[in-house]
Amino acid sequence: MYPLIRNRRLRTNEAIRRLVRETVLTPDDFLVPLFVVEGKGVKEEIPSMPNYYRLSLDSLEKEVKELWGMGLCAVLLFVKVPDDLKDNKGSEAINVGGLMQRAIKTVKNACPDMLVMTDVALDPYSSYGHDGIVADGEILNDETSEILAEMSISHAAAGADFVAPSDMMDGRIQTIREALEDEGHTHTGIMSYSAKYASAFYGPFRDALDSAPVDIKNVPKDKKTYQMDPANRFEAIKETQMDIDEGADIVMVKPGLCYLDIVREVRNEVEVPVAVYQVSGEYAMLKAAAEKGWLDHDAVMMEQLLAIKRAGADIIATYFAKDAVRLLG
Ligand code: PBG
Repeated sequence: MYPLIRNRRLRTNEAIRRLVRETVLTPDDFLVPLFVVEGKGVKEEIPSMPNYYRLSLDSLEKEVKELWGMGLCAVLLFVKVPDDLKDNKGSEAINVGGLMQRAIKTVKNACPDMLVMTDVALDPYSSYGHDGIVADGEILNDETSEILAEMSISHAAAGADFVAPSDMMDGRIQTIREALEDEGHTHTGIMSYSAKYASAFYGPFRDALDSAPVDIKNVPKDKKTYQMDPANRFEAIKETQMDIDEGADIVMVKPGLCYLDIVREVRNEVEVPVAVYQVSGEYAMLKAAAEKGWLDHDAVMMEQLLAIKRAGADIIATYFAKDAVRLLG
């Protein structure tokens, strides 16, 4: 008894594999996170993120031109704020002359058609390293949302196409949406980090921006009262659905690889584009293993990105975007 149905027929050679391939990566899939710092001519490598850099505005200009030339069309901006500008309310976040606001203009001047998304959360601006205002050992929800709304308006006014709230306060999407409408920024979109888990994979990112929660009495040591418990699944759907109802144009699951079950479930449930953030710790793991010669960097990278797309990602925020596009040829 030999099988009549042989699945291997569809794997016989590269041509047939190409013909029946269900998932294909393209440069259009990627959103490129960029870290911006003050200074001139700065391009400093982040120790826990080999081959990834903090860029001053002039270096940012060069970088986005290069990205655009490679066929990448969207960036997600983060800024590293000097310690002396940090406070509990993240006042620097709404400075119209602040680094983020200047970075947005720099990208738009260099590449007018590049889509600019901006991170909206207090942590890089917070003296306590939290995404919201800290009071009596807690993170204030509604007061924080108000600042996030002001921050969003200032990003929109500087030219951001989308704001990306990554803070996980309740109701902030509605507060931000209403504020943008009131100020006439009706075309500014919101990409909500809707299912964002309290993950240990954000470590290298916090090194990059010097934004980890500080170890001071009466300041929470972690973000577990606002970011989601990695154990939970239904909650991800609830969070995502609520953000859509509040006005999110794009939703996100974060981190990526450990949460692909959530990605698939969210993709099946909602009708808006789903973004996935392959976070700094995921990047660092592969870099470290490849450096030791234990994994084939390029092959594993492409397999991971493909798996994220296959799981249901319409957009992948990834530090591998340039490397991947180079390989895609
Ligand atoms: C901050 C923010 C974080 C990331 C994106 N926005 C860190 C955090 O929540 O502590 C992590 C991204 C990464 O690890 O690559 N609100």
